Amino acid sequence: MFRKIKGTQDFLDLTLFNFIIDQAKKHLEQYNFVEIATPIIEPLDLYKRSTGEETEVVTKQMFKITGKGDEVICLRPEATPSVIRAFIENKIQQTPWKVFTWGPMFRYERPQKGRYRQFHQLNIEVVGASSVFQDAHFIKMLDRFFGEKLGLTDYALLINFLGCFEDRKTYHFLLRQFLNDVEQDVCAECSIRKEKNILRIFDCKNPQCQTIYKDAPQITNNLCKDCNAEWETLQEQLSLLSVTFAVQPTLVRGLDYYSKTVFEFVSDSLGAQTAFCGGGRYNQLVCQLGGKEDQPSVGAAIGIERVLLLLELIKERILLPQKKALHLILPIEQKQKSLALLVADNLQNSGLSVDIFLEGDSIKSMMRKANKMGAKYVLILGPQEQEEKKVSVKEMMTGKSETILQIDLADYLKS
Ligand code: HAM
Repeated sequence: MFRKIKGTQDFLDLTLFNFIIDQAKKHLEQYNFVEIATPIIEPLDLYKRSTGEETEVVTKQMFKITGKGDEVICLRPEATPSVIRAFIENKIQQTPWKVFTWGPMFRYERPQKGRYRQFHQLNIEVVGASSVFQDAHFIKMLDRFFGEKLGLTDYALLINFLGCFEDRKTYHFLLRQFLNDVEQDVCAECSIRKEKNILRIFDCKNPQCQTIYKDAPQITNNLCKDCNAEWETLQEQLSLLSVTFAVQPTLVRGLDYYSKTVFEFVSDSLGAQTAFCGGGRYNQLVCQLGGKEDQPSVGAAIGIERVLLLLELIKERILLPQKKALHLILPIEQKQKSLALLVADNLQNSGLSVDIFLEGDSIKSMMRKANKMGAKYVLILGPQEQEEKKVSVKEMMTGKSETILQIDLADYLKS
């Protein structure tokens, strides 16, 4: 027997999954976003140049594929670099380009609750939009989605501000000084991070390192005048829009492309993996990936599996779209099977949801199965019904039976 690959899942009931996607599509249309799709395979170098050579995603979590040529391709670990590649490659002129895409992503992580090797993200980007007011609008859009469209209550929004390139240069210097003093107490990997990509120390999972970094200098205390003003504006606008947030000075996000605004939506109900949505501003990515002009952008990705965990906790309160009433046709003998196909075809043609029992079970067993399947009506076709061109219709809820002419059946059931 084959078993699924570690860290992957079979979804046998997609009701809640589709609920998230359908609600998101409606919500994002209200905010003028357009749905796009990009490939699941991309060049590995795309992620090295954007997500970051020294990030865990690139150093440890890539699913690489060696194709027939020299190019090394990979299964995408996130969608943002693909969206920006598509923006450049398709020479999109009209900005802001407001797009969203959803689908599977792949990261070779240690699987646990809410953490998979194949998982799904709904990824939303505004490419070519530099104003900090966009960030506030974008975060409000997400908050409204989680709170109003999905009905989540048990979550928090964490924000931070990473400043401009110059701010980060100053901050790297301050952080390096701080690390020089505590280096003997931090893990070996953090010593390497200090040399290669110092902001990544905040992604360290070692509890001792995390405690030490609580006393690290904070980037928001070291912003230039313009960035400081933007940071103030962001907080003011969020408050004005009634978005509740907490400032988290160590929030730097695990990917290299961020500048200025960064945020995460988290919930303690998720266990160890608390973030169910993360994003921020990335102002240099278009140029970094070969675009001619800088296109300051902001975006986020929602982790569908983690939102599913949250929805499972409140599923009684969710108003899911009503399923269509099921009509089950029961041909009693072999001779009525062909008639059953014709009756079903006619009903399906008039928009009803219909299935047929064709396996030759006894009527008792077919009735039991119909009950289990939640059928609204069973439509019995026996020799007598065939002879009289009729159908015996039984309403499962009331047990009421009626005999209807086959020719009138669709109208009868629809009324
Ligand atoms: P990220 O924080 O790496 O950001 O991922 C976003 C969300 O995807 C996480 O908050 C989490 O809910 C979910 N996620 C990540 N890894 C896993 C996993 N192994 N299993 C289950 N869920 C997972 C990004 O991917 C950025 N591209 C977001 C972005 C878009 N920034 C700007 N635009």
